[in-house]
Amino acid sequence: MAIQSFQGCNVFVAGGSSGINLGIAKAFAANGASVAIVSRSAERVAGAVAELKALAQSGAHMHGYSADVRDAEAIAEVLAQAHAAMGDFDVLVSGAAGNFVAPALGMSAKGFRTVVDIDLNGTFHVLRGAHDYLKKPGASVLNISAPQAYNPTMYQAHVCAAKAGVDMLTRVLAMEWGPQGIRVNSIVPGPIGDTEGVRRLAPTPEALARMSASVPLGRMGTTEEIADMALFLSSRHAHFVTGAVIPVDGGSSLAGGRDLSAGWTPKEA
Ligand code: NAP
Ligand code: COA
Repeated sequence: MAIQSFQGCNVFVAGGSSGINLGIAKAFAANGASVAIVSRSAERVAGAVAELKALAQSGAHMHGYSADVRDAEAIAEVLAQAHAAMGDFDVLVSGAAGNFVAPALGMSAKGFRTVVDIDLNGTFHVLRGAHDYLKKPGASVLNISAPQAYNPTMYQAHVCAAKAGVDMLTRVLAMEWGPQGIRVNSIVPGPIGDTEGVRRLAPTPEALARMSASVPLGRMGTTEEIADMALFLSSRHAHFVTGAVIPVDGGSSLAGGRDLSAGWTPKEA
């Protein structure tokens, strides 16, 4: 199956200036789409737009904006500007996120609220603000979730609560917006090498090795592997897929599954 070209398509990526989200933005640009990204740092946005321009196919345009997803009005304004520049969106990605590792008792109310505000409220602001621009047939909304959404994870109370909320928004809006032809899905990346998320969760070589070893496929994923799922979910091959929460994680979400042979060796046939 060859993934379709995205020539003539418009893609908006919130949090698109680095890591996994930039990987997604680059994959769409490399496949012909016009792409707009937003994040807080104007400098980081400028660097990412330069990378996107280097991949742009003829007739495609790359746009960058600086705003904080916690600010609903600022994000609505950026979405309106991107819409004025590109037209209706075929694909909307909500991936801005923040994380730090701390026990619940080591988080101030502001610390907890900060992550919930970026990950969960930010996703609501992005989706709510973009709704009116999602009129193209097969329009695809992709929320970037995390394993913490369903895997209770110590020192991640804020992220667990926020990403569980993101996945529930995916399901509820898939139902509310389905009749308008808007599909809403979550991608749940496992540990992805060379990303800020992994640097924060596994800050030492030992922790990194343990994290890799915990993946059934025995390695970290790549940003390209997450981007491949984003392309698939936004292609015509997935036009009947909505409300899905899809792990792309080398089997990490199977952690907690039982090995009934523990303690004895079953005979081979
Ligand atoms: P990253 O490089 O730090 O990406 C986060 C992006 O969001 C950056 O572009 C950042 O740019 C932007 N951002 C952060 N706060 C923002 C805000 N308040 N308003 C607007 N933009 C904001 O991290 P990553 O590791 O690639 O993670 C990307 C996504 O994948 C996240 O949703 C994360 O939860 C998810 N994820 C990652 C992993 C992993 O292995 N890395 C695993 C599972 C899920 P600015 O600083 O310029 O704002
Ligand atoms: N432990 C406990 N609390 C912490 C903390 C830590 N390691 N790091 C930050 N906080 C708290 C701060 O203390 C502050 O609360 P306080 O004022 O009551 O002390 C609150 O979180 C907000 O911190 P601040 O630095 O002002 O927030 P910010 O909006 O500038 O940045 C973060 C948000 C903290 C999430 C920051 O790490 C960030 O911008 N991250 C984006 C990149 C990222 O996390 N990538 C990985 C994605 S998975």
